[in-house]
Amino acid sequence: MVAHPGQDPVEPFAHAVEAAAALRTATGIDQYDVAVVLGSGWAAAAEGLGSVVADLDLSELPGFPTPRVAGHRNLARSVQAGETMVLVLGGRVHLYEEYTPAEVVHGVRTAAAAGCRGVILTNAAGGINPALSVGAPVLIADQLNLTGRSPMSGPEPPAGRPGRFCDMTDAYGPRLRALARELDPGLTEGVYAGMFGGAYETPAEVRMLAGLGADVVGMSTVLEAIAARHLGLEVLGLSLVTNMAAGVTDAPLAHEEVLAVAAGAGPALVELIGGVLRRW
Ligand code: HPA
Repeated sequence: MVAHPGQDPVEPFAHAVEAAAALRTATGIDQYDVAVVLGSGWAAAAEGLGSVVADLDLSELPGFPTPRVAGHRNLARSVQAGETMVLVLGGRVHLYEEYTPAEVVHGVRTAAAAGCRGVILTNAAGGINPALSVGAPVLIADQLNLTGRSPMSGPEPPAGRPGRFCDMTDAYGPRLRALARELDPGLTEGVYAGMFGGAYETPAEVRMLAGLGADVVGMSTVLEAIAARHLGLEVLGLSLVTNMAAGVTDAPLAHEEVLAVAAGAGPALVELIGGVLRRW
């Protein structure tokens, strides 16, 4: 296939199949059930989800760049959580690092090619809704893709794949949201605004996002959710509020603070994700 300008030279769906084959060879695991993508500061969730069956460097798999943003790990971990075989992707890459949408969603497409029926997308986010608390997880109920990018751009998906206009109603599956709320009845739901990122928002941008209906804001997740729904995966999204967004409080924003808050919240998050995985 001829690459469009700005697109990966390798056809992205075939690349994911290749990565899944390399994963099978490296781990000896034929079939995964659910993937967990760990966002900034969710590293603790790589521990304690179940028994570790295999570990490898994510960057050993075709098409996976080494995650470079602090708080992300170069780790592909296979974990048995009850009956569920889980692929934990310890880090992700972002649009603001100048990766293409296809590269950003390569993990999700690889998970689908490895047999996953669902994906848990986690991230660190700024709290826009003043009722939210720093250090608390938010269940993503819906999203605003404000990145100006889409994994469904570029050439039409190849034969044998669903077409590009995938339904995004109930993108974050009601069944999984209900399950998460059952496990943690105090869990708040909210709308996640995904920005291109690279800098935190200005207070004016945060006011705009509030007006658009966003409760939390971050720099990831939205393209992965689209790619997952395109391939029919159920999606659960969890944001950890690591700071109140710019202008919501007077506190200045710093990535170190984001990571410190995330580290403190670790154990509760592990319990929540572990519970969802075991009852998937
Ligand atoms: N804005 C965008 N992304 C973020 C934030 C924020 O305030 N906090 C953590 N990730």
